[in-house]
Formats: sequence, C-alpha cells, structure tokens
Amino acid sequence: ALATAATLSQAQFPDKPVTLVVPFAAGGPSDKIARDLAEALRKPLGQTVVVDNAAGAGGTIGSAKVARAAPDGYTLLVHHIGMATAPALYRKLAYKVPEDFEPLGLINEAPSVLIGKTNLAARNFAELRQWIGTNGTKVNLANAGLGSASHLCGLMFQSALKTNVTTVPYKGTGPAMTDLIGGQVDLMCEQATNAVPQIEGGKVKVFGVTSLARLPIAALKDTPTLSEAGLKDFNVQVWHGLYAPKGTPAPVIARLNAALRAALKDPELVKRQEALGLTIVGDERLEPGGHRKFVEAEKQRWAKVIKDAGEYAD
Ligand code: MLT
Repeated sequence: ALATAATLSQAQFPDKPVTLVVPFAAGGPSDKIARDLAEALRKPLGQTVVVDNAAGAGGTIGSAKVARAAPDGYTLLVHHIGMATAPALYRKLAYKVPEDFEPLGLINEAPSVLIGKTNLAARNFAELRQWIGTNGTKVNLANAGLGSASHLCGLMFQSALKTNVTTVPYKGTGPAMTDLIGGQVDLMCEQATNAVPQIEGGKVKVFGVTSLARLPIAALKDTPTLSEAGLKDFNVQVWHGLYAPKGTPAPVIARLNAALRAALKDPELVKRQEALGLTIVGDERLEPGGHRKFVEAEKQRWAKVIKDAGEYAD
C-alpha cells in the first residue's frame, strides 16, 4: 500500500509549491538567476516556485540544507561552480559532491570579466599586467568571499600570472563592488551579470573577458578575452546548475528535468538571461547524467588550482 501511495504522489508531482534554495544573498548574480528561473518554471510545473536565500560559507550552508532535505522534488538547489569547488576548499564539508545530489541539469554559463577601479592608470590588460608586476602584493584583488565565483577566478588569475597580489574577501558581491567603485580596492574578477551595469555606468573599468570567447554584450564589444590580451588559454567560466537531494525518485527527476528544459526555452527567460550576459547552452550537460559528469570534471580541474593556491577553509 505504501508503494502505491508513493507512486500516486509521484504521478501528481508537483501538487504544492516548489522551493529553489539559493546559497547566496538576495540581489546577487545567483539570486537573479534563480528568481528568473523560478518564474519560468511556474508554467511547466503548474505550481508556484519560491526562492529561499540560505547564504553563507561560499554556498555550502544552502547546499547542506538541500542535501538534508526530503528527496521529494520540492526542495531544489540552484548553485554555481562552487558546487564543484567546495570539496577542495572546505576541509569539513557536510555533504559529498556529487554523491549527495541528483543533478538535474545545467542552467547557464555565466561569463566573468576582470574589472578595476576607474582611477587605475592602466588603459588595457598589457599595461595592467605590467602594473601588477611592479606593485605585487600592494595590488588589492577583491572577491565576494571564500568559495565565491570571484574568489575562484582570482585564484586562477594569480596562478596564470604567477604572482601573489593581496586578496580582499568581502561578505558578498554587493560590498565588494561598492569598495571597487569607491576605489578602496583595485581589481575584481566578477560575473558579467553584476559587472556589466557598472561598466555601462562608467563606475568600473574593464580589462578582459575571462572565458575564451568575446561576449555579445554592447558594453563589452571592444573588450578582448584575457587569452587574446596575452594570458594565453586563460579560461574561467562560471556556470549554474539545478540539483535535487540524493534519492529523489527517477520519475520526479525526469519531470523536473523536462520542466527545466521548457523553462530554458521560455522567451522571457531567454531575453533576461541574454541581458545579464548569460548563455543557455543546452548541450549534454542539460541532461542529469551529463551534468553529473561535468560536475565531476570541474571538481578535478579546480582541486588542483585550489591545492596549488593552498587556500582552505574549515
Ligand atoms: C552571488 O550571487 O552572491 C554570487 O554568485 C557569489 C559569487 O561570486 O560566487
């Protein structure tokens, strides 16, 4: 009788609101993405989709919350690249990646840009590189906190430049951006979602795109990739995915994956993602098995960078 009841409730899934846990603060890039996705999931799921910000510790608090949630499809996680990097960064992680989750699919790729305070003398990346070389640890590189996308990008940047600048961690992208605009820090490697409005407003300078292709955004039409600008093959690409807790029944996973696919085709969502500089990819990573493989590959790639940098958290 129990099995029948479970089968019945899966067939009716979802029959109440679905929650998307965002492991970062309201107003940041991850939150914007989750809110747009929540809106676009309403129609294919036929239910209200609410966002729950469970911020802190580089996304690991919200992730742990979802890992522990009932595996019934009603509590999901929207997370970025930090999903794959947390195991290397956090010595005491309360969950396993990807084992404690059912990956549902890739939401987008979220390109980043290297930005600086407006009164930096450097006019382009070559000049910036020289300035960093001369000033070394006097250069301040902001990030949104340990485990944030900007932190990871900064690690990769320092490793590629073979230099050690001074890293300044903030409690989120908001305060980091405020200090960059105010000139208290020099540089930040930030998701385009957050950086583009400030570039458009002339509040920060842009030195390069951190992934391998230029970005089709008006404010960035003359911005080279860092790879083109001399940091050959430099490639930091942030991404976002959707996850359910381990043990979520296969029919519920299939239903959620279908809803995600439908949401990513929603013209309103597509328009909003494009305006935020986000790319919906729709390759094999949009399929649960393909996404799991991708998370595993990212985990390997970043573990080495993090180990070399020697930065860990408890
Ligand atoms: C956020 O939404 O706060 C960001 O995605 C944080 C980050 O830079 O990782």
